[in-house]
Amino acid sequence: MKKKTIRDIDLKNQRVLLRVDYNVQVENGRIVDDTRLRESLPTINELRRAGACIVICSHRGRPRGGVDESLRNAPVALHLTELLGVPVRTAQDCIGPDAEAQAASLRPGEVLMLENVRFHPEEEANNDEFARALARLGDVFVNDAFGTAHRAHASTVGVTRYLPSVAGLLLEREVDYLTKVTDSPERPFGIVLGGSKVSDKIAILENLTKCADVICIGGAIANTFLKARGIDVADSLVENDGIAGARYIMALAEHRGDIEIVLPSDVVVAFGGAEGALVRTVSVAQVPVNWRILDIGPGTVQNFATALQRCKTVVWNGPMGLFEREPFDRGSMAVARVLGELRSATTVVGGGETVAALRRAHVAERISHVSTGGGASLAMLQGKPLPAVDALLDA
Ligand code: ADP
Ligand code: 3PG
Ligand code: MG
Repeated sequence: MKKKTIRDIDLKNQRVLLRVDYNVQVENGRIVDDTRLRESLPTINELRRAGACIVICSHRGRPRGGVDESLRNAPVALHLTELLGVPVRTAQDCIGPDAEAQAASLRPGEVLMLENVRFHPEEEANNDEFARALARLGDVFVNDAFGTAHRAHASTVGVTRYLPSVAGLLLEREVDYLTKVTDSPERPFGIVLGGSKVSDKIAILENLTKCADVICIGGAIANTFLKARGIDVADSLVENDGIAGARYIMALAEHRGDIEIVLPSDVVVAFGGAEGALVRTVSVAQVPVNWRILDIGPGTVQNFATALQRCKTVVWNGPMGLFEREPFDRGSMAVARVLGELRSATTVVGGGETVAALRRAHVAERISHVSTGGGASLAMLQGKPLPAVDALLDA
């Protein structure tokens, strides 16, 4: 990576403002998948070894600029305490007098975690005053939040105007690996896309039709494509604003001729919500009125497997269904196994929830690169710059 890293600066007695991506799901006070925490440990341990005090900053979820009790960072700090074996203190907010006093009182090796930075609308607006307030908490800024590197926010880009800013070890490792894969992917190049950030991903697909040979679409995003094809998806999550985009993508693929788009042919549908629901597997043409699609079916998994078999590079982002709830995890588990069995292809799986699904399927060790970034790795695939990386000091 052509950027300075924590290896290039003197950290002794320095207060480090460390941006990480701990955007993880918490259920009943417990972290569903702690990959993003574990992956940040080499950087934290190295900072501690070098004699720095550490102020950790992260977002969680999309609280839209206000306090959301379910998105506090406290459970994450508790789990990090277990992983590090040293207490991780917490601040009431990510800026202001309490955070500043606690940051100032840290001794070398000590760790403080700030409250969810997205509780302030100024974070996503990349507000300058807010960035300055964050910068008051450190002498240097270290960015290890690869998963958030595609966002130009106050805590990823804004702070770099006020502090010398370098990369952490995870950010470096991710950018180095993904640059190799995405600059000139070995073909045929397959993409599996799912998940729920529909509008984000439709824009991404438009660009990916330029470089991919096979695109398999599952998850909530597939509903929008099915609807664009005139299929009645009943109560399924659909982004109506995305229908025109989905039509355009399918037309583009048809025009190109040599790109294969695989949509679900069968789906798992539920009535009455995910809890205690009635569940059936049906053809996409037969989604019953008032039911909703919550996973892809076994026929679809088979079609994805067939299409991906010939690929030399496969990238997967976004779960195939509501994998947090059984039995809607089966499609994601099966796709994870399909990727694990592609022995002659380079496989990359990225995204907070996608990696959680991958780990649950116990195939992570058979994947070439497991990335902490979903949107960030897709941005690299499209050849887009990562603003949070660009903002760091050049090597
Ligand atoms: P990642 O974190 O891997 O980048 P996303 O954040 O885009 O992936 O999406 C993950 C979420 O998508 C999961 O919480 C999952 O439950 C949800 N999801 C996937 N398919 C569906 C569906 N058909 N209906 C509702 N939610 C879905
Ligand atoms: C992610 O989980 O993809 C990152 O943390 C970014 O989250 P965002 O899409 O809400 O910015
Ligand atoms: Mg996610």
